[in-house]
Order: sequence, then structure tokens, then C-alpha cells
Amino acid sequence: METEALSADEVAEHSPPSVLAQLLRTVRHHLAQATDGIRQVAARTGDGEWEQQATQLRRIAAFVEDQVSAMDIGQRSFLLPDQLQRFSTLLRQRRESAHLTGIELSRRAGLSSRTIKNIESAQVSPSRDTVLRLLGIEELGLTWKDVLDDPAEQSGSDLATESNYNCYIPPGYDSMRMVQQLVRMLNGPGGHIEQTNAYLEHRSALAYVSMCHDVEYVTALRSKYPLDGLARRVMIEGGQSPLKVIALGVGDGHLEVQLVQHLLSMRTKPDIELLLFDISQPLLTTAYQHAIDTFGEQSAVHTLLVHGNFHDLAQYPQVSYTPARGRRRRLYTMLGYTLANLDSEPRFFEHSLAHCQPGDMLLLDFQQRPSPVGTSEDEIRRTDPAFHHPFKKVHSEWLGTPFSAHCRDYMSHEFSLQLVTQCLIPGSYALDAVATVRTRSHAERRFSMFRFKRYDEALLAESLARCGWDKLVSLPIGESDRAPMAMLLVKR
Ligand SMILES: C[S@@+](CC[C@H](N)C(=O)[O-])C[C@H]1O[C@@H](n2cnc3c(N)ncnc32)[C@H](O)[C@@H]1O
Repeated sequence: METEALSADEVAEHSPPSVLAQLLRTVRHHLAQATDGIRQVAARTGDGEWEQQATQLRRIAAFVEDQVSAMDIGQRSFLLPDQLQRFSTLLRQRRESAHLTGIELSRRAGLSSRTIKNIESAQVSPSRDTVLRLLGIEELGLTWKDVLDDPAEQSGSDLATESNYNCYIPPGYDSMRMVQQLVRMLNGPGGHIEQTNAYLEHRSALAYVSMCHDVEYVTALRSKYPLDGLARRVMIEGGQSPLKVIALGVGDGHLEVQLVQHLLSMRTKPDIELLLFDISQPLLTTAYQHAIDTFGEQSAVHTLLVHGNFHDLAQYPQVSYTPARGRRRRLYTMLGYTLANLDSEPRFFEHSLAHCQPGDMLLLDFQQRPSPVGTSEDEIRRTDPAFHHPFKKVHSEWLGTPFSAHCRDYMSHEFSLQLVTQCLIPGSYALDAVATVRTRSHAERRFSMFRFKRYDEALLAESLARCGWDKLVSLPIGESDRAPMAMLLVKR
């Protein structure tokens, strides 16, 4: 079939329509790239102007696509009728598993939505060119084997269905490049190291997990989370409707899995989708392992993984897509002080979560500031215990891992805390963990590695409300109402 199509191509190659065809294919390709690029810019800047420009480009792309279809360019089918039948079903399954609408898929593939509809209804057999475009959409996970294979040769379990298509790695997620950039920074003059680097590599992830599993950490903190009470409140709000828990910055996943266990125990029809989202590959797989060990592979909890950056949530259809019917109520969690990892909390509440629907919930934990809002920097320094104890050894080991691993001629490092009062959430402040690093080949260098944050609960809730999130409940982590840590559940 392919040979026939190619020889037909060869015959047509030198005819004037083929020159136009080639030109239009090139235009289509560039338009798809430009649209994708502008969409990314729009997502990063949150600027509606870019989105409008992207919409115009998509209109042009649809026009070009229609011309391509009209000219029958590259539309010679190369699928046999039974291959078409199989492919049409498979395409729909994969598209739905990836939570993509037909329109969304057509945009990504640079095809018209009509083309997608025609293939999925098995009315028009796709050209090789069209199949190639669909193979290029990573979320679909399609291979040539899926497209061409004889079903008799395929073991049924080979077909990726919703239940075994469980991990999404977006285009552009490149952990090797992230580490290379980190290494370059660490051997430069010093500066600000982006906070994700505290978790990215296996050694950092190991140090983080061993800190979280330290007996003192578990007894003083993790065991005190009021997860039962919070699950109860989520149930009051959401009732028994299907639930999707989206665990942002899931880390080792222990708190999140425990929360889901509480939710499960309160449901008459246990049906929960748990989506684990993290930028750190080792932590994400650790969380997945823990979820599978806890719930079992064939349980009522369907667990999915997404490798990604939560600053660009809109890019992940698994997180942001809302189906027209049968939608699950979403509960987003950011536990273990992940809130402090955000570059800008207001931008995140308002724009990164702009896709949220009424009824969706967000659960956060945070450290409370010990001094009243409005006190001087001196007073903050006086009242915050972090300024009166040496920098914690566990923190120094975890956050210092990249220095010993990557700084050439590394000798030692030492952390100190810098107070930052200019923060975006009123009443909050940050403690910047700044490392002084000594090596044999450089003078002392300073790196800002991480920030710990303190919030005023009422002002945090107010900021959330301004961004469309209303408070449902706040609970202290620990026995006392004045516990230094608390949780906040809010609703769209
Ligand atoms: C403070 S830890 C919390 C982990 C876990 N939830 C817990 O309770 O221990 C923050 C987590 O967020 C992840 N993270 C940090 N920045 C991120 C980003 N920009 N996108 C996605 N994940 C990120 C880290 O890899 C880490 O697993």
C-alpha cells in the first residue's frame, strides 16, 4: 500500500499542483509551529492579546487545511478498510484518554477538526501525511504498530487504554537539560538557583524523602495533619459525585495518598481518579509506587502521573480539560508547603487555575507567621524561631546536595537565612536560604537556594477570595488553635 502511494507521489511530483501542494504543506507546518509557540507564550504571560493572535492564526491554519483537503493533497489513503476501522476506534479512545477534544487535537496536529471527525467515524481514510501528524502528538501515544498491525497479531493487553495509559511526559520536559543548566549555574559566579532544583535530581530527591521520613518530622508534623476532618469537609461539599484529586507537587505522595484513603472510606461508590503531578522524576515515581502499593493496581483509585511544571498548568489537558458531560469534581492539593514553591501565588490562584470550574476545590497547607501583621523586621526576627536556631542540619544536607555533587573542587557550604518582607501575599514574608559555598578553585560564592514562607491566615484567605476562591474551612496542623502550621480548603 505504502509503495503504491509513494509511486503515485513520484508521478505527481513534477506536476504544477504538486509544487503548490508542497508549498501548502510547508505553510501548514509553519503555521502549526507558530500557533503552538504563541499558545505557549499566551500561557506563560497570561496575556489575552496573545490568545487572540493565536486564535487568528488558528483560523488561517484551518483555511490552509481546508485548501489542502480540497486539493486532495496527500489524501491518498494507505489504510486497508479493516485497518481504518481499528484506527478510527483507537484514535477516539486515545484522544479521550488524553482528555483532548476533537478541536484541541486538530489544532495540535495542524489538521482541520473535520479531518479528525471523518477519521474517528471511519468515513474517510487518512493519508500517510495525516497519520504522521497524529503519530507526532505525544499524548496519544500512537505507534506505527497501532496503525498498521493486524489485530490478530496484537495481544489485547498491548492496546493502551485509559487504565494502562497512566503517565504523561509533555513535549519539552527535558530533565537532562534542567540538570545541565543547574550544573552550569553552580559553576558560575553565584546567584539564584530556581527552587525546583531542590528536588530534581535523584540525590536531592533522596535527601528530601529521607528528611520527610525522619521519625521526628513524621511525629512532629506529618502525623498531625487533620486529613480526616478535611476529607469530611470535601465530602460535605462534593457529596458522592465522582472525584478527581490532582496532587500538585506530590513529592513522595504520603500525605496525598492518606487523604485519598480517608476520602475512599467515606464514599459509597469508591471511584476516585488520582493524578500525581510533579517536576521531579524520581519523586513522581516514588509517589506512584506508594499509591500503587497502597491502593493496588486494580483498585477503585485510578492513578495517573504527569511530569510537569505547575506554573504552566493550562498546558496539561489531563489537569485542565473539562469535558462537557460527566465531569469529575476536582480537588487540587498543594501539601507539604508546596505553596512556598510558587513564584507568584496570586498569579497561580488566578491564572494558572483559570480553567477551574465552580465547585472545584483547592487544599493548601502553610506556615503561620508568629508575629502580628505590620510588625517591624526586627520584631519578625525576634519572634520567628528560625532566626534563633542554627540552620537545620537536615535542610542543609538536602539543599546542599547539588553543591557537593556538582561544584568543581567543592570543599564546604553553609546556609544562612535572609528575611524578605516584600512578598505578593499581604502579611506574608519569606526566609531566603542563602548558601555560602567554598571550593578550592573559586573565591567564596553565594547562592540563593530556597525560600521558606510564613503567611497570615486571614490575609492569605483574602487573597484567595480576590482570585475567586472562597474559604470553606481552615484547620490547624496540631492540637492547638495557635499551631504554627495550618491547612486551608477553598472552593471556586
Ligand atoms: C515542598 S515539596 C512537597 C512534597 C509533598 N507534597 C509533601 O507533602 O511532602 C514540593 C514538591 O513540589 C515539586 N515542585 C516544586 N516546584 C515545582 C514545579 N514548578 N512544578 C511541579 N512540581 C514542582 C517538588 O518536586 C516537590 O515534590
